[in-house]
Amino acid sequence: MKFFIQRLVKQLILFLTLAFFSACSNSESIPPAPTLSTEQRLELPPDMENGRRLFLTCAICHEDTEGAAHRIGPTLWNVYDHPAARHRDFTYSTAMKNSGIVWNGPMLNAYIAEPAKVVPGGRMVYKGEPDPANRRDLVAYLASLTED
Ligand code: HEC
Repeated sequence: MKFFIQRLVKQLILFLTLAFFSACSNSESIPPAPTLSTEQRLELPPDMENGRRLFLTCAICHEDTEGAAHRIGPTLWNVYDHPAARHRDFTYSTAMKNSGIVWNGPMLNAYIAEPAKVVPGGRMVYKGEPDPANRRDLVAYLASLTED
């Protein structure tokens, strides 16, 4: 009986430890990749969590919070519906400065698909996101980076 209780207590401690650590890691966890097909996802509203997950590839070069400094790329806080190359304290390529782009949904979608095609001679080293549902989710995430 004593042995049984000892085992039970050990198991309980193990369980609580695991629960504690999984709760800790959950708070900063990366959302899981979507399981539905691209077509199915396009029928549904944008998936912000997936957008946040995809932004991790952009985050190597871009900040996404208010007041954050530029990195390899300019901060993307408030980028949505604003003209390209609007930060005076970031050194853009001449191509980006002369692009005349306004970063609305369709332009962001096109740029994320093929940066080199939308801004030929630009400096963003990113191969492009081929999945239209992923791009749609990323654009929704970018549109959310604003105080309004
Ligand atoms: C390897 C670094 C790198 C990665 C990864 C990257 N970018 Fe960029 N990004 C840049 C640089 C550098 C520029 C400036 C380009 C220029 O001046 O031609 C830029 C510019 C931009 C701009 C224009 C901003 C403005 O102020 O006009 C947008 C929008 C953008 N990136 C979105 C993204 C998104 C979304 C992703 C992820 C899917 C991404 N970038 C991934 C480096 C990167």
